[in-house]
Amino acid sequence: MPPGDPKEKLAAARNTTVAPAPIAFGAAWYPEQWPEAQWAHDLALMRKTRMNVVRVGEFAWSTMEPRQGEFDFDWLDRAIDAAVAQGFDVVLGTPTAAPPAWLTEAYPDVLRVGEDGVRAGHGGRRHFSFASARYRRFARRIASEMARRYGRNPNVIGWQIDNEIGPPSFDGEARARWSAWLEAKYVSVDELNARWSTAYWSQTYQRFDQVPLRATGQQNPALLLDFKRFVTDVWTDYVDNQASAIREHADGRQWITTNTMHWNGGFDHPKMHRDLDLAAWDNYIPDGRPDWLDNGAQHDLVRGYLRRNFWVMETQAGHVDWVEINRALDPGQVREMGWQAIGHGADGLLYWQWRSALNGQEQYYGVLAGPGGEPTYIFDEIARTGAEFERAAPALAGTAPRAEVAMLFSYDSRWAIEIQRHHRDFEPIAAFMSWYRPLRTQAQAVDIVPVDAPLDDYRLVVAPHLNVLPASDAMRLEAYVRRGGCLVLGPRSGMKDEFNALHTERQPGPLVEALGARVEQFYALDEAVGVSGALGSGEVRIWGEMLRTRSPATKVLMRYRHPGGWLDTEAAMVARELGKGVITYVGAWLDDALMQVWAARALERVGIEPILADVPDGVEVASRVGAGSRVLILINHADTPRRIALPRAMVDVLAGGELRKFELPAHEVAVLQDPAGGMR
Ligand code: GLA
Repeated sequence: MPPGDPKEKLAAARNTTVAPAPIAFGAAWYPEQWPEAQWAHDLALMRKTRMNVVRVGEFAWSTMEPRQGEFDFDWLDRAIDAAVAQGFDVVLGTPTAAPPAWLTEAYPDVLRVGEDGVRAGHGGRRHFSFASARYRRFARRIASEMARRYGRNPNVIGWQIDNEIGPPSFDGEARARWSAWLEAKYVSVDELNARWSTAYWSQTYQRFDQVPLRATGQQNPALLLDFKRFVTDVWTDYVDNQASAIREHADGRQWITTNTMHWNGGFDHPKMHRDLDLAAWDNYIPDGRPDWLDNGAQHDLVRGYLRRNFWVMETQAGHVDWVEINRALDPGQVREMGWQAIGHGADGLLYWQWRSALNGQEQYYGVLAGPGGEPTYIFDEIARTGAEFERAAPALAGTAPRAEVAMLFSYDSRWAIEIQRHHRDFEPIAAFMSWYRPLRTQAQAVDIVPVDAPLDDYRLVVAPHLNVLPASDAMRLEAYVRRGGCLVLGPRSGMKDEFNALHTERQPGPLVEALGARVEQFYALDEAVGVSGALGSGEVRIWGEMLRTRSPATKVLMRYRHPGGWLDTEAAMVARELGKGVITYVGAWLDDALMQVWAARALERVGIEPILADVPDGVEVASRVGAGSRVLILINHADTPRRIALPRAMVDVLAGGELRKFELPAHEVAVLQDPAGGMR
């Protein structure tokens, strides 16, 4: 970049060191929905929970810009002042998830069009087109106006762009962007035709604008995968449009993020975060029945977007209101989920929402303050959590989780499998979790990172279903192994190139030589198939691949038992030592007991010990280290008490004193500072 280039200035302004302490604890507060006379009461009550941050402004566009070009921020000035007066920091949300009526009325072309061709109407949210240049001009303008006013406000600590970046649009502008995107990627339409094998079913295109914009249906898998990447790029550009507007006015201390959702597969999340300062997500347990491993995996996934601590920008104050049965979390579980977030690396936790709006679409939602401003059933539990966070903040400051095992999460591979599951039950997240569960319970720390993350710090790298494996990624993975890494590939790995085309070499494609084995054939299974070998005996469900070795150095570790079937006596798992490391391929969806044994052996082989040995079932262990502190967070997710025995006495951060052997009651939490320190 030439010196003085505006991009360079913006890059210099980027905040890359989000201050980690104290723990940000707060709620979504919508002052625009309330008479000003009630603000002080709300904020004072909020302070009783030890909250120290409020998130304000998202969705308030019609209040900030009541008529086109007429801005009213006086109320927001006063709301910020009121919050600051009671000791709060402020996170500002840009309001662009909810365009005002004047905008959609005067410019209906900004409204989103569904894949079915139906244009959205006013009254909900997310009803704008992500591709609309006009919408972006309006969005940039409101973001700029906000940043000009608050970009140097010492009490505004950061920005959330939009809210839960969401559905794509299929309007004319989106189609034009799609054609341009394809042209930029493929340059010539002949190249696209070749990569997509469009001679198949007479799809051959003469021009890029002939290529349909489709997300579903009987379309070429290359098109459907590129659609996801296109959506990623358009949304990233949409977010960057606002981020750059904010950075023009904001000082470098203010960070910029956006809040993402529950396992959302709508776009590639690490890619979207490349130019953001902080990752954040909205952590909901819609059925009110937490699966702590599933929830923990999502924290780890979000920590992997930027490979550093993150925020939970929203979490439920008891219950949600958008599923069929909106069950409340049990007593103690809101606190439990709060501590789990911290254990996995959250430096901020904000509840949604503070107080029930009297009307609007979410009247039944869990809140801390009811419609009259009085505390609800969950208030005391959240207040207890806040007091504990405050107490633990000095020990937690500057700490982060550290893992020696990484799982690769590839959005491309997830999408490629979703596009062609081949077996109804090969659900990519369930497949991923069948590997995560045993690893997390045994290693007690797992990073989830994109395929292009640096891997050398990990002793074990697991890629559960790396279906899309371009040669360049394969080379990096092979180099990791040769340098001494331990790489484990799961079923369906190495089948496709970056265009979602089959590799001409069978799976794992560009890693066949390194592995010294290949997949002769894959089989969708509608009944369990036996398997036995180095891990013991058990069952394969859903998916089984027939492996054949091609090198004497490659060892068969598991074989199928399937009398009369294709897989009988064939290899299900192979491994080869390569350079200073080892590469393993597991071609089957193994049952949970076998996966536990697999994880134990894999961790033992590379010398990864649990953070805390002999921990009873249902107790989650998390640790955060750094700045001379090592904090263990133990959570009993079970319904009965558990006995804990620590290797040495540790400081009980919450209650004071020391703990060594103790009982952890059901749904209770222990936060321990280990005087001996440690790497994990
Ligand atoms: C999302 C939104 C919030 C609210 C909650 C309710 O997370 O960001 O505005 O609607 O859902 O679950």
